[in-house]
Amino acid sequence: MTGPQSPTAPAAPAPDDAATRIAAGYGASGAALALGAVVHGGGPHPDAQVRVPLAMLNRHGLIAGATGTGKTKTLQLLAEQLSAAGVPVVVADVKGDLSGLAQPGAGGDRITGRAAQTGDDWTATGFPVEFLALGGLGSGVPVRATMTAFGPTLLAKVLDLNPTQESSLALVFHYADRAGLPLLDLKDLRSVLTWLTGDEGKADLAGLGGLSPATAGVILRDLISLEDMGGDVFFGEPEWEPADLMRSAPDGRGVISAIELSAVQDRPALFSTFLLWLLAELFEDLPEVGDLDRPKLVFFFDEAHLLFTGASKAFLTSVTQTVRLIRSKGVGIFFVTQNPGDLPGEVLGQLGNRVQHALRTFTPEDAKALAKTVSTFPRTQDYDLEEALTSLGIGEAMVTVLSERGAPTPVAWTMLRSPRSLMAQLDPAEQQRQVAASPLQARYGAPVDRESAYERLAARLAPAPSPAAPAAPAEQPPPEQQDHHTDDRTDDRTDDHRDGGGAGEAVAKVLGSPAFRAFARSAASALGREVTRGILGTRSRRR
Ligand SMILES: Nc1ncnc2c1ncn2[C@@H]1O[C@H](COP(=O)(O)OP(=O)(O)OP(=O)(O)O)[C@@H](O)[C@H]1O
Ligand SMILES: [Mg+2]
Repeated sequence: MTGPQSPTAPAAPAPDDAATRIAAGYGASGAALALGAVVHGGGPHPDAQVRVPLAMLNRHGLIAGATGTGKTKTLQLLAEQLSAAGVPVVVADVKGDLSGLAQPGAGGDRITGRAAQTGDDWTATGFPVEFLALGGLGSGVPVRATMTAFGPTLLAKVLDLNPTQESSLALVFHYADRAGLPLLDLKDLRSVLTWLTGDEGKADLAGLGGLSPATAGVILRDLISLEDMGGDVFFGEPEWEPADLMRSAPDGRGVISAIELSAVQDRPALFSTFLLWLLAELFEDLPEVGDLDRPKLVFFFDEAHLLFTGASKAFLTSVTQTVRLIRSKGVGIFFVTQNPGDLPGEVLGQLGNRVQHALRTFTPEDAKALAKTVSTFPRTQDYDLEEALTSLGIGEAMVTVLSERGAPTPVAWTMLRSPRSLMAQLDPAEQQRQVAASPLQARYGAPVDRESAYERLAARLAPAPSPAAPAAPAEQPPPEQQDHHTDDRTDDRTDDHRDGGGAGEAVAKVLGSPAFRAFARSAASALGREVTRGILGTRSRRR
């Protein structure tokens, strides 16, 4: 790289006033993440550094660019430095290529070359990663939500309900919440719907006002088809605790929770909504802290457009509000997507930090999108933005972030540093080994099919139950309950198909009885209040 004639790297051009001036806009007195070096006048200037202050990461961010331009590597670079600074990170690993975070990078000439060009003292480094998998599908510790916690707004998104159906579903949850009936898993909710749409439930259905039998029937069918597609594994216990996303490794580095989504890639509505649920849980759990000198957690949403496609207006409003409010709880959110236009304007407007990789202009729509992207950048005399955005190399981006004073930094064509961890998928066997060894396995590893709300009610209403039996977890379920308490998920599903409305019938019997009605009333009053729901319709946590 360095010959006798050239003591500096050949790629480093002569000092450049513009580069120096741009870099001055990125000066930081506090801790900052190093993004890379300013490119101007035909090459990178290793002394002209582009960085983003840690204190500004709760002002959120956008990483955009055409496929293959370096978005995921930029995400990896940021996640690594956050971890090193002791900040826990959550990343949505859609393609599995972020699993490499757990292992030191491979290095090589290109990495060494880029390190010299970006003023980086690159050393191969692995990071503390916790692999998570929704419903246990894929290589990670299982993440599950109870139906009650998930709530009607997010479930409506999963089921792709229209606004009328969405508000009807909210009524069903309201009904269960009021009655103090925890809906643990999918079949609990199915039972309530089956009952409400059956003969015995007629009166209560009418009492719910605004929920038509036809709509309830549609929701029930959608729910059953979600179940048929194996959607039941995502809902139930043990439920994920948001605090488990906020851990530090023994060496003080922030744990990177990599949510492995490749196994559920083909179900974007489901996984994107689940990620949102995790965010909502954090939101409900965390106290207000105002502006900190570093975030408490940073959340990266890869393939973020999936969150918004086909979303209802109410859903969009809720997401926008969550994004806005979570900032003062010390959480930063980065959306990663191909085109900034994939995100609603109100969300985009809240993303203070931008890393825009190359855009391609194959179609007239592309050209429009390009012009729109240009219009969202601060003015610059240093670059022709339209041209720059289409000529950026891989691993280069146009950057503008918030300075420590909270003002937009000058636009910088940036050559990004290389991640220090592996820029590829971790060896699957190694990943499996790490997942198996995770301390979280003890809590989340096996699904606990505790008695569902309805089984518990049935037990309480049974003629002569032993007093302790109803409350105790069903370690040894009685034979007639065995079907529903098997650990084998496939069998469980098969059973559900087989008994079809059977569970519904049993529930209906219980729900229809006068004893139940009395119990439901007393349960509701014993609880003293119904479940409180947050912005995204998820259960509020009060501790
Ligand atoms: N900062 C970087 N340092 C070194 N190499 C990089 C960097 N960024 C990108 N690359 C190279 O470019 C390739 C593609 O990058 P990446 O996977 O991040 O693209 P992407 O924008 O996420 O693409 P997609 O939209 O298809 O997911 C990487 O495999 C790597 O070889
Ligand atoms: Mg990618």
